[in-house]
Amino acid sequence: MQRLYRKRIVLGVGGGIAAYKSAELVRRLRDHGAEVRVVMTQGGREFITPLTLQALSGHPVHLDLLDPAAEAAMGHIELARWADLVLIAPATADLMARLAQGVANDLLTTVVLATNAPVALAPAMNQAMWADPATQANREQLLSRGIRLFGPGSGSQACGDIGMGRMLEAEELARAVADCFETGMLTGKHLLITAGPTQENIDPVRYITNHSSGKMGFALAEAAAEAGARVTLVTGPVFLPTPDRVQRIDVVSARDMLAACEAAMPCDILIAAAAVADYRPEVVAPHKLKKDPSTGDGLLLQMVRNPDILATLAGRADRPFCVGFAAETENLLEYAARKLRDKNLDLIVANDVANPSIGFNSEDNAVSVIDRQQHETRFGQASKGHIARALVAFIAERYKES
Ligand code: PMT
Repeated sequence: MQRLYRKRIVLGVGGGIAAYKSAELVRRLRDHGAEVRVVMTQGGREFITPLTLQALSGHPVHLDLLDPAAEAAMGHIELARWADLVLIAPATADLMARLAQGVANDLLTTVVLATNAPVALAPAMNQAMWADPATQANREQLLSRGIRLFGPGSGSQACGDIGMGRMLEAEELARAVADCFETGMLTGKHLLITAGPTQENIDPVRYITNHSSGKMGFALAEAAAEAGARVTLVTGPVFLPTPDRVQRIDVVSARDMLAACEAAMPCDILIAAAAVADYRPEVVAPHKLKKDPSTGDGLLLQMVRNPDILATLAGRADRPFCVGFAAETENLLEYAARKLRDKNLDLIVANDVANPSIGFNSEDNAVSVIDRQQHETRFGQASKGHIARALVAFIAERYKES
């Protein structure tokens, strides 16, 4: 169930005997890669302890609307915003009635009112309570508002009755939750993305680097995560926040970047947007270099080649679909096409960095993608976020055809 990977589920636990199944549900959701935060009603706490659900979810359980300590950590509005889905399991007759009326007199019902995420209920109650016209009217009312109902199922009940009202089993609920999420273009795929510059030390206080801000690579990571991919972002030193649902690995030098990328393998698609230093000083001086009168006004630094990260990964037996970037100031398409061949790539994104409004550290970009058949696809000037989403869709399409 890749669709649950990194999905954020707020699980509301109401006061019914089926609350014991919620513990298993937390495990199932997490097994499928979802992140779970639990909110319990007062009644829920009578059936299962918050400690159990805290241990299983890996996070403190949210209990009270008016708890200043809890609100300071993640308040009800943040919780409502955080959720990709709010699932209430078990949803008692009382909870259904309160939700149908729009009552917000505890944390869980307040979160439901405050969220823009889809809300789903897994009803659990005695068969006569379920069949009662009041509950059925509430059910209709909730459905008409777009709230989803998973179950209830039918069978023998804890009270000894037989009939409708059993909460679905944990695995059935996990599947129903997964069905709420669309499959993204890259669901189930692992993308490795490099971004930013590298720094190559000369001595303890100086280094060689370039103008890459990381904006393009970070925008690609965000777009890939939105498309459902598991994203590992290996970045040189930049001043950017980590995009949501992206695993970030910070590195400094080209050799660090190669080691981090190799450790993150295997991946399905590699996008190399980093501006990697081709050379590094052969020797890093152990102390700050001093002006040396014997060398006059000059300073000679002996440089050696850095490993080529992209070419190294493209040469592996478990080679991913490889997308490079080519930052050029002249002969853009010719040089880009040469890099595609020399580094054994599937696609290369040609980036004209002579134009300051696109390329290094700019908000916008405009690129051409060249494939192995030398076909060029142009993406006109737009924000890096926009270009990244278009590139990710294009790459996903070509990857599927490969
Ligand atoms: O970070 P921003 O400010 O948003 O700017 C974006 C960008 C201009 C840095 C980016 O869009 C870009 O073009 N990145 C590639 C820059 C570059 O160094 O290209 P290159 O022609 O030197 O390298 C070709 C390809 O090989 C690149 O994919 C590069 O990541 C990779 N490479 C290069 C050298 C090396 N030792 N290892 C590599 O993996």
